[in-house]
Amino acid sequence: MENVANLNVSKAQQTTHPFAAGELVLDSIPSDERLWVPMVDGVWFRPLMFNVVQGGWCHLIRVKKAGVVSRHSHPSPVHGLVLKGKWRYLEHEWIATEGTYIFEPPSETHTLVVDEDTPEMITFFHVSGSLHYIDESGEAVGFDDVFTRIDLARDHYEAVGLGGDYVKNFVR
Ligand SMILES: [Fe+2]
Repeated sequence: MENVANLNVSKAQQTTHPFAAGELVLDSIPSDERLWVPMVDGVWFRPLMFNVVQGGWCHLIRVKKAGVVSRHSHPSPVHGLVLKGKWRYLEHEWIATEGTYIFEPPSETHTLVVDEDTPEMITFFHVSGSLHYIDESGEAVGFDDVFTRIDLARDHYEAVGLGGDYVKNFVR
């Protein structure tokens, strides 16, 4: 489903501008387990949309282990919506449960944890810009942006037999 501009379509036939990016319509929770990209033990992400023009991405995070998932900050906003299970940030009082919407303001550092009573959580996130991983002393120890995530997904899809090009399905 690559985006190829067709300038020979009449206005009457046009529903989107010829230069508009192609739409994406996906089963967000796939039946094919291979679409989940492993990150660390018990944590996966499922790409939905990689935005290589504005720099950002939409994905599902799935966690099937208890404990700290990641401590990170982001210089740009993040939006989240919990689809299954629950989780919290050590830095906040609230708990994100099924149906909770979260706006994470730029600059915040937080530590995502899943508690023992939650066998599985799945959350949609729209990440703008980048994620900076932070160690316990507050130092940045790594980052992810849309391009590192594309590379992770590409390598995984190659390894599981879908082919590295499968990642192109999500790139806009
Ligand atoms: Fe975050």
